[in-house]
Amino acid sequence: MERTCIDNLAFIEQITSKPKISLIEISTSSQRLNSKSFIKNMPNPKPRKPNQAKYIFSEGIDYLKTGKRSIWGKGDRETLDFLNKAPLHGKWLNLAAGDGRYNTLLLKKVDCLISSDIEKSALIKLRRNTPKTLRNKLRMSVFDITRKFPLRDSFFDGVLCFGTLHLFPMRILQKIVKEIKRVLRPGGIVIIDFPTHIKRYRFDGKPYVIRGEPHYSNTTAKMTLQRLFTGYHIKMIQGNISPESYPQANPPYTYSSKFILFTGIKSEWRPGNRIS
Ligand SMILES: C[S@@+](CC[C@H](N)C(=O)[O-])C[C@H]1O[C@@H](n2cnc3c(N)ncnc32)[C@H](O)[C@@H]1O
Repeated sequence: MERTCIDNLAFIEQITSKPKISLIEISTSSQRLNSKSFIKNMPNPKPRKPNQAKYIFSEGIDYLKTGKRSIWGKGDRETLDFLNKAPLHGKWLNLAAGDGRYNTLLLKKVDCLISSDIEKSALIKLRRNTPKTLRNKLRMSVFDITRKFPLRDSFFDGVLCFGTLHLFPMRILQKIVKEIKRVLRPGGIVIIDFPTHIKRYRFDGKPYVIRGEPHYSNTTAKMTLQRLFTGYHIKMIQGNISPESYPQANPPYTYSSKFILFTGIKSEWRPGNRIS
């Protein structure tokens, strides 16, 4: 049964209450800096070469040469609608945020946001595209999501990851989800946009296949997400992405897919509970 975005929103409203806001605490490690020093310390980052064998699905491009718009387009309409209406508050983490397709919208809603990616130039572009009035709420962190996140336990009110987790094989996906759960506070929200039924074609018409990428249908994606987030209060909706072109991707390609928009709420901790 297809659910509407409204089902998901009502679900978030029911289950969450606005958390008390405390100032986000950021350590000044070289990889986790406030926006200004981030830019100052990393003026000319080299593009991160993709290495599928090591689960680095970067584009290997300098995002600062890709113009103002996100190389992934404007964002999917249903997902934008959902984010626009979702009552999101507190401290959030945008994992594999890329060059910021959904970042400004998220930043408008939440109180503090850490945007992370393995690609430094993508994050620099993301910051440049962030309206000045919102930059004081933004922090950035460069890290590989397949390793332990350089972030504290139970720190975030929400974690969002769009258009990325479907790339990883199950063993690695399990590791990433374990880290998402670790940094999310009890009662916190995780939102994942998980593409399914993916079709990619190079501009010469040949199929473009990412080596080792799992292939999910809506059914297998839902089963996988349900298994990964056992113990969470879960809602999932499904949507479609009509064919669109990514001329700045490496290689350039056209893309279409369906997707599952997943929302999970971590159980509140009570004495005697095990935290999932
Ligand atoms: C398809 S893009 C999605 C970007 C963004 N979430 C969006 O929806 O527009 C995938 C992103 O994942 C990042 N990425 C790939 N492998 C990664 C890894 N192992 N650790 C962290 N980020 C990674 C890439 O650099 C890229 O920005």
